[in-house]
This record gives sequence, C-alpha cells and structure tokens, in this order.
Amino acid sequence: MSPGKPSILVTGGAGYIGSHTVLALKQAGYDVVILDNLVYGHRDLVEQVLQVELIIGDTSDRALLDNLFQSRNFAAVMHFSAYAYVGESVTDPAKYYRNNVVGTLVLLEAMQAASIKKFVFSSTCATYGVPDVVPIPENHPQNPINPYGTTKLMVERILADFDVAYGLKSVRFRYFNAAGAHPQGLLGEDHNPETHLIPLVLLTALGKRESISIFGTDYPTPDGTCIRDYIHVNDLADAHILGLEYLLKGGESDVFNLGNGQGFSVREVIAAAEQVTGLTIPIVECDRRPGDPPSLIGSGEKARKILGWQPQYPDIKDIVTHAWQWHLGRHK
Ligand SMILES: NC(=O)c1ccc[n+]([C@@H]2O[C@H](COP(=O)([O-])OP(=O)(O)OC[C@H]3O[C@@H](n4cnc5c(N)ncnc54)[C@H](O)[C@@H]3O)[C@@H](O)[C@H]2O)c1
Repeated sequence: MSPGKPSILVTGGAGYIGSHTVLALKQAGYDVVILDNLVYGHRDLVEQVLQVELIIGDTSDRALLDNLFQSRNFAAVMHFSAYAYVGESVTDPAKYYRNNVVGTLVLLEAMQAASIKKFVFSSTCATYGVPDVVPIPENHPQNPINPYGTTKLMVERILADFDVAYGLKSVRFRYFNAAGAHPQGLLGEDHNPETHLIPLVLLTALGKRESISIFGTDYPTPDGTCIRDYIHVNDLADAHILGLEYLLKGGESDVFNLGNGQGFSVREVIAAAEQVTGLTIPIVECDRRPGDPPSLIGSGEKARKILGWQPQYPDIKDIVTHAWQWHLGRHK
C-alpha cells in the first residue's frame, strides 16, 4: 500500500465489475480486502490476477462483519455484491429482497457499529423503469418494473435515511449496461448463467451457442431493436475510484448515472461483433420480452462534472474488441 492510502473493503470483488474495480484500486495504491461468498464470484481470478486478501463469506453474516471490522481499519466499503438476474427476481423475489436488501442492511448496521462512514453502492438504471426521456438524468422519477430494480431503489432510500440519521456518506452509482473486459485481457465477464448481450453474441461467434436471439424487432427505434447504453467496465472502475476519493475528501452523499449518453441497438451490437470477430453471427428474431423498454440511455454529465469522470472507451467497437480478446483467451 502507498503511504497514506487507506484500506477498502470490496464486497462482491470476485465478480465482474467488482474484480475490475479491485484491480484499479490496487493499481491506485489502495489496500483492498474482498468479501465474497463465491456464489457467482471467481476465486481463481482473485488468487491469480488480483492477488488481494479474499474473505469467503456473506454480507448477511453479522458476526463475521463485526470481527472483520474490529480487526481491520477500513476507511470505506464498496458494495458490489448482489443478485442481478432480472428474470429470476420476478420468479423468486424473496431471494432478491433477502440478499440485496436484508444483506445490505446487515452490512450497513455493522458499518454503523464500527463507525465506518463511507459507502459506494452499485445501483442500476433498472431503478428508473420505463423512462419518460432519454438520456435519463439522475432526477428522473424512479419506478422500477421488476423486483431487482426495486431492491436497488430500496437500498438507495436506506442510504439516504442513514445519512440523515447516522451521517453515513454514500455515492450511489446507477450503472447502465456494464460491458467489455480489461483492455490487456487480465479480467473479463464470466456470468453463469450469462444473460448479457455482448458475451452472448461473442459466445455465439465462438460456436458455444447456436444463435443469438433478438427479442423484439418492432420497437419504435431506427432498426426496430432495443437500444442500450453500454459502458466499459474499466470506465466503471475508474468512476468508482473517483467516487471513493470524492467521499474520502469529505464529499456529501450523491447519486450519479454511469452511462455514455449514447445508445446502440441490438442489431448494431451484433454488427460490431461481426466486424470485430470477422465472423457471421446467426440470429433468431423472437417476440418482445415483457418489461424491456425500447431505449435506455443514461446521461453521465453529472459524474463528468462533479467527479471529473472521463470514460476512455465509449466506442462500442473497443468494448466488443476487449470482450472478444478475453473470450478468445478463455476458450483457447
Ligand atoms: N452487470 C451490469 O451490467 C450491472 C448493471 C447495473 C448494476 N449492476 C450491479 O453491479 C453489481 C455487480 O454486478 P456484476 O455484474 O459484477 O455481478 P457479479 O454476479 O459478477 O458479481 C457479484 C458478486 O457478489 C457476490 N455476492 C452475491 N451476494 C453476496 C453476498 N450476500 N455476500 C457476499 N458476496 C455476494 C457474488 O459471488 C459475485 O462475485 C451488482 O450489485 C449489480 O446489481 C450490474
């Protein structure tokens, strides 16, 4: 650890976005400890690439947290751990409220008992529901249309109340679609099951899947397919360091979208993947899925202005290229 750089606890640091952020924190000189129950995390990546301390445990384990907070001096907690499968949250909402809300509440109470007052939270554009306007600003009404989005909104509300009552300062980041991989191929996206478009398209290119399904080709968008804002995972990691440093310097609680302010349709993403891979990717056109807004694009202006965030990889081709390099490395 560099002199003067404090220790940070990262929950969910063995997962996709958490692992990229842990690497960025480490490279910035922070002392990092990961807490991850490894339900979806990757121990091999922590041990071989991140090489930071991994505590295998759950955020709802109060005794574990109390011991950890007594034995270590954390300046802040970055909280990535959650379940994030929208469809599953509809069929098994209890699982989501228990992990994403109750698990977070236990963590926050343990922090409160240990007087840890800084918190960086992974929220989501899913808290907005179907937007009235795009690009979506942070003050857009939040009306989530699935339990996953509701769990994240509930935590946002808990954080606002904890600030008033206990002085907990938080940065709430509402991510749009996290995508891409570490530009040097050290880390990447490996969800199981995988539900995100770019890895599914690339797994199809690799022949690991037969085809890519396009859900809805009659949306009111230029090519009829849904438009999303894809944000490179390394740009998310950078934003987290800036958010952390904002809090460490005494910043007030605030909320920031992390999006590029530009959207790409499903067909555009597939076209970019065909260009990057040089392969033809078989598609199957399917009906719309319930609850998919036609267009989700986030204004990242506030994060740029207040945190000085400057995404390095807004180009979809860079995002797909880095993801492709990662997949090629994995499936050699
Ligand atoms: N991937 C996206 O596009 C996206 C978009 C918006 C918000 N988010 C949010 O970002 C965060 C990280 O997403 P991700 O894509 O990296 O997911 P991920 O599943 O790769 O990572 C989550 C990690 O948390 C761990 N975990 C889950 N519950 C835990 C618990 N109770 N205790 C300890 N560890 C636990 C898992 O094992 C996993 O390693 C999540 O909170 C997610 O809701 C993700």
